[in-house]
Amino acid sequence: MTVLLETNVTLFFGRFHSLIVHLPIGFIILAIMFELLSWRKKADLSLAATYGLLIGGLFGVIAVILGLMLASDGGYNEDTLATHQWTGIATTTLAFVAYFLKINLKKFTWAAKAYPISLAVVLILLSVAGHYGGNLTHGSTYLLEYAPGPIRKMAGMKPARTRITALDSALVYEDAVHFIFETKCNVCHNRDKSKGELLLIDPQSILAGGENGAVITPGDPAASELFRRVTLDPHHEEFMPTEGRTPLTRQEVAILEWWITEGAPFDKKVADLPLSDDIKISLKEIGIGQEVSYLASLDLPAVAPETFNSIMLQGFRVSNITGNSTLLEVSYMPHNPEALSADKLKTLSDARENITWLTLSASTLQNDGLSIIANFPNLTKLKINGTRITDEGIKHLVTLDNLEYLNLYGTEITDESVDYLLQLPELKKLYVWQTKISEQGLAKLRDTAPGLVVESGI
Ligand code: HEC
Repeated sequence: MTVLLETNVTLFFGRFHSLIVHLPIGFIILAIMFELLSWRKKADLSLAATYGLLIGGLFGVIAVILGLMLASDGGYNEDTLATHQWTGIATTTLAFVAYFLKINLKKFTWAAKAYPISLAVVLILLSVAGHYGGNLTHGSTYLLEYAPGPIRKMAGMKPARTRITALDSALVYEDAVHFIFETKCNVCHNRDKSKGELLLIDPQSILAGGENGAVITPGDPAASELFRRVTLDPHHEEFMPTEGRTPLTRQEVAILEWWITEGAPFDKKVADLPLSDDIKISLKEIGIGQEVSYLASLDLPAVAPETFNSIMLQGFRVSNITGNSTLLEVSYMPHNPEALSADKLKTLSDARENITWLTLSASTLQNDGLSIIANFPNLTKLKINGTRITDEGIKHLVTLDNLEYLNLYGTEITDESVDYLLQLPELKKLYVWQTKISEQGLAKLRDTAPGLVVESGI
């Protein structure tokens, strides 16, 4: 079903305001820059500045007219709109004043003094008008939404709250419902722009409803105006969000339905409400209850600097896997002329919990070394390709419960290792190219562990 929207000439033109308004801004700023360049005699752009001001002013007039048409749509915060409107009109007027002064510079001596002042004032007015225009379009919190804490504080904003995404501690309203409103609805339902006189920014405003009263009936989605609006046919003129903005996903609608059915609580945790499997899947879709990877869940103290140094002195390269992680990536230079003795490996034991990636490729590592590595509980990635290890060594590795990646390329291991490898519960990727594992051995690996990718060259 398609419902044709009524034609509205005023609004039709009005919507072009947001498009046109950038032209006067561009021309006026360009004119000021040209003036600054000519002033220092860097380039003679004086005439270009004159025309810039004139054209900027003319486009300003068009932008003002379109803006007034758009404002007739209503739903904007009155104060924000008034400031935007009057600074916009003043910017346009001042652009003409500056133009007039500029062409009369030689005629009146006072014009030469007033001209730079007029440019400065234009620039200030333009910035204010632009800023309030941005607030009308995006809401006043838009600009500093991702700003660092101290800047938000200076602007009088609440400190950013980190969204909780763990299923047992996430809050129904803050982390799920509010999140949906913020991403899909609040460009139009915020303090500066409250379409339908509805704000969806906090519990009070949601309960207050819009121009036609309450939008939520706790316990009854079907009777809730808000729910009706998001479940209409998308072509229906009352469908929310309007104007072709990204509609709610099926899962987001399901979450709102669930929340309203459960009485639309604002302070409960997700886990306090009945959770069907469908709802769990829907929540996962908006990032709540996704399994945290093993590594991300570890919170280990950093390794002492002395340990770090003594490991490096043994010829290892050590670094943190990411800038803010305490987990380590350690490697021994391939073809290092110095043998990789068991003693050298023992220095790694002081950091055994932190080491998660270990590369000992093409070193002189032998089976006794693997008995040391077998005690690294958080090892997820191990490269020991091109070494002299054998099945005897692989036997030690079965204790590595978190090992996900193992490279054994170019070693002498045989089918005897297959049974040991199958004991690694997290193993996802295994490289056994150019080893003595037979085709039957490979088939056994692949059949017994379907989730394991075995790279064998065949
Ligand atoms: C692009 C702007 C825009 C977006 C985005 C938007 N709305 Fe609206 N909304 C409007 C306008 C305009 C009205 C007033 C006209 C009307 O009632 O249809 C309105 C009205 C409403 C009303 C009726 C209020 C009343 O009392 O009449 C509800 C409920 C509503 N919106 C909910 C939502 C929800 C929920 C979302 C997010 C899924 C949303 N809106 C996203 C523009 C928007």
